[in-house]
Amino acid sequence: MSEAKQYTTKNGRTYHNETEVPYMLPTDSKEIPRLFRQHEALKGILDGRFKAPLQDKLEAGITVLDSGCGPGAWLLDMANTYKNSQFHGIDINTDHFLKEGIPANAHFVLGDLAENIPYPENTFDFIYQRLLILGLTTKQWESNLQELYRVLKPGGYIELSEIDCTIMHTYGHFFKKLQEATDICQRARGTRPHIAVELFERANKAGFINVKDNIISKPFCHGGEIGELTRFHIISAHKSFGPHLADIVPEWKEDDVYQEHIKNCEIEAANNKVYARWNVVTAQKPIDKAK
Ligand SMILES: C[S@@+](CC[C@H](N)C(=O)[O-])C[C@H]1O[C@@H](n2cnc3c(N)ncnc32)[C@H](O)[C@@H]1O
Repeated sequence: MSEAKQYTTKNGRTYHNETEVPYMLPTDSKEIPRLFRQHEALKGILDGRFKAPLQDKLEAGITVLDSGCGPGAWLLDMANTYKNSQFHGIDINTDHFLKEGIPANAHFVLGDLAENIPYPENTFDFIYQRLLILGLTTKQWESNLQELYRVLKPGGYIELSEIDCTIMHTYGHFFKKLQEATDICQRARGTRPHIAVELFERANKAGFINVKDNIISKPFCHGGEIGELTRFHIISAHKSFGPHLADIVPEWKEDDVYQEHIKNCEIEAANNKVYARWNVVTAQKPIDKAK
């Protein structure tokens, strides 16, 4: 594939041109430190780096794919921890790949995880894919799961982690307005706001076995340290894609007005003591399937 290079600028942030790539978060360098900080937050929120039962194999040495790796926050953390394993990251945005400080067991490659993952069938023991909710259309989720199946070794594991947006409209009226605008914006691009709760069924349908849906629920904007981690993860993402929401809610074209709305969402979440949820789905490719 050739790299998507059609960009658009909104409110000082750079994005893919949505007619080329549906992904809603920025492609600019300001997004890189946010993704690294978000990874640290997610380690606390999701109770560690991964859930698939692969600790011993990672220590002994296996081959791992980070599908949609971004700048490689998860991949680099894993590569520095499990030095006998090889870690490959693919992404459509190579601008975010780091140019230095990459350990010898970490490799970054341009690739579209929905079209053609640039590796032969049965290559990986473990495939990790996190936070593609703002990236893939309905059709792309189907082809993505087929591609993950193809490049996974028989007996290997996938792990898919997504935030559950089905409950956010229940947090209060500020959040309801925010989530409704986000849903409209996502649907206009063909992406799936409720993908987290669909993963279990989609993984089964794609032929994976031993599919487990780990539902994680954590206090959002309250409850001490964990509430601060969830706040950073969810609020910083909404700030990063906020400029798109101004297409749906015209008053949010004024950045001050949008920032105030976000502040009110945080206050609402804290006052109402709401919980945020994630689905982490692990599954295996059957042993008897060579393809
Ligand atoms: C929210 S970021 C998450 C990055 C990383 N998975 C993490 O959790 O830190 C989503 C990433 O998916 C990438 N992406 C979106 N659509 C993609 C596609 N079709 N193929 C490959 N990467 C894609 C984006 O460029 C971005 O780097």
